[in-house]
Amino acid sequence: MIPVNMTGILGANRYRRKSDYNAGMARDLKEMTCVITGASAGIGAELAKQLSARGARLVLAARRADRLEQLNTELGGRHVCVVTDVAKREDCTRLIDQSIASLGRIDTLVCNAGYGLYERTALTTPDQMREIFATNVFGTTDCIAAGVPHLMRNTPRDGWRGQVMIVSSCVARRGVPFLGAYSATKSAQLSIAEALRVELAEHQIGVTSVHPIMTKTEFGQQAESRGQVALPKSQRDMFTQTVGHVVRCMVRAIERPRPEVWPSLGSRIGFALGGLMPGLIDRGMKRYYEQVVEANRSHQ
Ligand SMILES: NC(=O)c1ccc[n+]([C@@H]2O[C@H](COP(=O)([O-])OP(=O)(O)OC[C@H]3O[C@@H](n4cnc5c(N)ncnc54)[C@H](OP(=O)(O)O)[C@@H]3O)[C@@H](O)[C@H]2O)c1
Repeated sequence: MIPVNMTGILGANRYRRKSDYNAGMARDLKEMTCVITGASAGIGAELAKQLSARGARLVLAARRADRLEQLNTELGGRHVCVVTDVAKREDCTRLIDQSIASLGRIDTLVCNAGYGLYERTALTTPDQMREIFATNVFGTTDCIAAGVPHLMRNTPRDGWRGQVMIVSSCVARRGVPFLGAYSATKSAQLSIAEALRVELAEHQIGVTSVHPIMTKTEFGQQAESRGQVALPKSQRDMFTQTVGHVVRCMVRAIERPRPEVWPSLGSRIGFALGGLMPGLIDRGMKRYYEQVVEANRSHQ
């Protein structure tokens, strides 16, 4: 039996079975309808730009209305902005209802809204723990619960009724020091994606999880502002990729749905092996832990 976390490495990261999926045909992005949560910054905003350039019709969702409106203006004003706090279930339901009212159908639902928190796991307060799950996990599952029934009613377009894309992280496969709470939310998203993908296959709905490494967005700044730990610049810059690269990988997976997107091949292999050799990875993580502790001590 192939361990689940080896599927990507062994080349099984494709929808192959023609009986379940239209494996070969690319979906036409022109006039495709997409809902993007967390569209006011970072990965979500860049995704909106790249999809808009390809002719997709979008619903842009986040809490900061001014940022959404500014982005929409930049994109020619042809999209719809819905102010949404995904941590509130009623906002997720309203987002989906307004998207259906405006676009008529949803081809791809991108659950991207989320944040990080740099903090020791035992010092993460119960409130911080609940808050991060409310946004990263329940913000995802509430959008899925409201959205999937609509996707199921779609008539197939280019072989697919629709797609759910969940922006998780590389740390979904392995908890990382100072990101214990965050890693837990990203693992939860991955589990949801894996189960949902099999369940929705017969409905011709693709489910794709996305696993970036550190990406240059507002994420790091947000994560530092919420916890008591700062990453040294050397660590911040070591494993970084551009938002443009991450989003190009996502756009390809919207065109041709696939189970997982790992914009960094090295992280895909490393994190998969981590599942097989946890003790070895612990040793590497310990060195990282000590460097961060030392850097924070010298800044105090
Ligand atoms: N950057 C990285 O290193 C990295 C790596 C792996 C995975 N990711 C994942 O990628 C996703 C996007 O992150 P990013 O890097 O683009 O970070 P970012 O630049 O900080 O953007 C985060 C986006 O999420 C939105 N958001 C946060 N809380 C929200 C809430 N309660 N309701 C609605 N929207 C909310 C923010 O909008 P408002 O503040 O306006 O609501 C913003 O648009 C996250 O799920 C993150 O976990 C990021």
